Amino acid sequence: MSISWLHLTVLSLCFFSTAPAYAIDPPQDRQTELRNMLKHDCGSCHGLTLKGGLGPSLLAKDLTNKTDEYLLDTIQNGRKGTAMPPWKPFITEQETRWFIQTLLKQPHD
Ligand code: HEC
Repeated sequence: MSISWLHLTVLSLCFFSTAPAYAIDPPQDRQTELRNMLKHDCGSCHGLTLKGGLGPSLLAKDLTNKTDEYLLDTIQNGRKGTAMPPWKPFITEQETRWFIQTLLKQPHD
């Protein structure tokens, strides 16, 4: 054998750590549901165009300086003592990551 298991392990670790964190997108019909949710549920507080309302703006330009983990925690668990509710019962962690990626990909105005 020319390649040891150690090499294979190291190679696969390299592969997985450089692969995009959001490799698995939700299926198309779930994406439609999620987009509707973003507009209607999130939009009810963050504004229909997500420019901000009761909650802060969720436009890409206002989120780029925040870490994915911080945004993930906010969306999954909400913010205690504020109007931001936890969305864990409705969207999985993977779907939340997709949400964040979708928000960050919005065109800048
Ligand atoms: C009932 C109102 C309400 C709804 C509905 C709501 N939010 Fe929020 N959200 C807030 C408020 C208020 C804050 C600010 C909390 C604070 O002061 O720390 C917030 C904060 C956030 C933040 C952090 C922004 C930042 O700049 O730190 C993110 C991200 C976010 N919301 C995403 C979402 C998403 C995604 C949805 C829909 C799945 C959603 N919110 C639905 C009220 C809401």
